[in-house]
Amino acid sequence: KSKEPVVKKVVPKEQDIINQIKESVANNFLFNALQPEQLEEVVDAMEQKDYAAGDTIISEGADGDNFYVIASGECEVFIEGKNDGAALRVMKAGSGFGELALMYNAPRSATIKAKVAVRCWALDRATFRRTIMAAGQARRKKY
Ligand code: CMP
Repeated sequence: KSKEPVVKKVVPKEQDIINQIKESVANNFLFNALQPEQLEEVVDAMEQKDYAAGDTIISEGADGDNFYVIASGECEVFIEGKNDGAALRVMKAGSGFGELALMYNAPRSATIKAKVAVRCWALDRATFRRTIMAAGQARRKKY
């Protein structure tokens, strides 16, 4: 059977933005296993997304499109029926979220909201699966 040719996504970026993304992901273990050319592919494909305090970035139960890394600000994790509606966790710059739906072809397992103004780098499903997931470091356990 023939494989579809891979069309790599490239969102043009200034060098200082590229450096900012690399700084954001430097301490995230999902990125540490990437080969240099895989990291370039990830950085090329990432898109900047900005949110205001209170915005919903991911809705529990929705289909998954992107994986996100927080560039600045803080995000909160909520799961319907858990913790009396209070946040289960607060994530800061360098944290990633949204990998589970992409890995398991499952609905979003939690709601993620911006706690304050947040900037994220969003990575599309196809690039995530071809790079970070293929590198084998992605979380295998479900929370
Ligand atoms: P996904 O299911 O794609 O979308 C919601 C994301 O929230 C999920 O991927 C994880 O990245 C994250 N997540 C889910 N449950 C928890 C939890 N209990 N604590 C922290 N993060 C979670």
